[in-house]
Parts: sequence; C-alpha cells; structure tokens
Amino acid sequence: MKFFVDTADTAAIAELAELGMVDGVTTNPSLILKSGRDILEVTREICALIPGPVSAEVVATEAAAMIAEGRKLAKIAPNIAVKVPLTWDGLKACKTLSDEGSMVNVTLCFSANQALIAAKAGATFISPFVGRLDDINLDGMELIADIRTIYDNYDFKTQILAASIRSVNHVTEAARIGADVATVPPGVLKALADHPLTEKGLATFLADWKKTGQKIL
Ligand code: G3P
Repeated sequence: MKFFVDTADTAAIAELAELGMVDGVTTNPSLILKSGRDILEVTREICALIPGPVSAEVVATEAAAMIAEGRKLAKIAPNIAVKVPLTWDGLKACKTLSDEGSMVNVTLCFSANQALIAAKAGATFISPFVGRLDDINLDGMELIADIRTIYDNYDFKTQILAASIRSVNHVTEAARIGADVATVPPGVLKALADHPLTEKGLATFLADWKKTGQKIL
C-alpha cells in the first residue's frame, strides 16, 4: 500500500520524506487554510519535495471553471493530481482533464455508486472518506471493501485512496482490505511505529546492556 501524507505542512512532509515512506501528498482547501500559505506557492514547494502524486483541489463548482482551474493547477508540476469533488460537474471535469493526460483525484466519495461512476469518468484516484462516515455512525471501511470488490469485478484501474484516515487502526484495515493508497495525517503516520511492548522491550535490553559494561563503538 502506498502512503500519501494528508497535509500542506511542508516541514512535516520534508521530515517524513526522509524516511522514504511518502509516496505522495494530498491537500484540500481546509489544509491550505491551515497552512496559511498561498495555494500555488505551497503546492509548488510540495511537488519539489515529493516526486509522487500531489493532489491540489479545484474550488469552482461548475465544470468549465473546474477545468480551467485544473489546467492551471496541473501546470504547477508534472506530478500534480487535480482534485475534483464527486458531483456531476466534477465528473465532467474529471473526464476532460484525464483525457488531456492529467492525473485526477475524485474526492468527497461516500458511496460505492459514486466510486463506480468516478472510475467510468477516468479517475486516477477515488477518495472515499472513511473517518467522516464513521463520524455519522456508518462504516467507512465497509465502503472501502465494496469499492475494492466492484473495481476488481470490472478491472477498473482507478486507485482506491482511503482518505479521512483518523487512526492507526484505519491504516491496518485499509491495508487488509487492499486499498491502493492511504492518505494519512503526519501524526497518524508517525504513530504507526509505536507499540508499548517495543518501548518496554527496548528499556530492558538497554538496562541489561549497561550491566555488561561493553561498548559497540
Ligand atoms: O483527504 C481528505 C481528508 O483530509 C479529510 O480528512 O479528517 O478532514 O475528514 P478529515
């Protein structure tokens, strides 16, 4: 499973990139707001940091304007994935932009049927929002599993990008089901390495090592 980082915080991206685990980045208008940066400037910087797909979202709601915004965003760098919402206008923009050779990430997906039509519109990525479904007492992972089945049934090449990931358990479940990508907030990505038994075991090893009086270097 590929890991994308769900942030527009370039310092956090650069730190995680050093581990070689960042396959891409996703942003959205809320994350741009949080960064306090200009969308074009910060997106350009992220594209230079990470060679994989960097999603940048359009904010127009009508297809022609979405396409114009998408073309402008796509010019930032060759690794831009234009992000469009899952509306009919968004799907029209998806079809046009993907026909032109841009990667397109169709976002705000909350149903299997939405994912099916996004694939038919040529989406490179579909972004089902797991956490926001869980928030309203539905099952986000059930949606990931349904989309996996449907895409596999028809050999759709659209990649399932599990989004709105809120916990390490979401990452495990998305990987178990076979999501192609999980886009993960930096804090959750870092927490993947944590385990109390690792910490406890390491403390014991270090205490015993001290008693040997030895040194490796
Ligand atoms: O990639 C979409 C994601 O950022 C949404 O996450 O936590 O705002 O639901 P959240």
